[in-house]
Amino acid sequence: MRTTKYFVMAVMVLSLAAGLGVFQAADEAKPKYDIEEIMQKAHKAPKGKASLLQQVVKGKASEEQKKQLLEYYQELAKNKPPKGSVNDWKRRTDALVSATKDVIAGKPGAAKALQNAAKCGDCHKAHKED
Ligand code: HEC
Repeated sequence: MRTTKYFVMAVMVLSLAAGLGVFQAADEAKPKYDIEEIMQKAHKAPKGKASLLQQVVKGKASEEQKKQLLEYYQELAKNKPPKGSVNDWKRRTDALVSATKDVIAGKPGAAKALQNAAKCGDCHKAHKED
């Protein structure tokens, strides 16, 4: 009887721990922003202004803005594209992440690499539904 009680308690503790673990994993895998939101915030230019991406490419962004762009691209990589191959999506989003990191680190040529990685039409053709 006593052993049964301990066994039941152990099972309860274990499943509680497992439950928490599962929630954490799900939370981490879920992107903080969806693709549309990232496009609007990072790529679409507000009226009369440069987009966040353009400000970073032109060297006009603050450190905060560069880090914000990096976060958008890291979250972009966690999203699944509406169409096209997942490997190609990974290659493109990885290029955006690493070029933005290089810009933050002040590597020469990084802004140009970022501009090349962020070719709107190329990626839309491969991954955006009409
Ligand atoms: C790495 C791939 C990729 C790159 C680079 C990219 N886009 Fe997108 N963009 C997408 C995808 C995928 C969608 C479709 C999202 C959906 O329908 O869920 C999209 C959608 C959009 C939308 C529509 C968002 C909405 O609210 O429906 C805009 C605006 C946009 N992109 C602007 C741009 C601009 C401007 C650039 C270049 C500076 C650019 N994008 C570069 C992948 C990309």
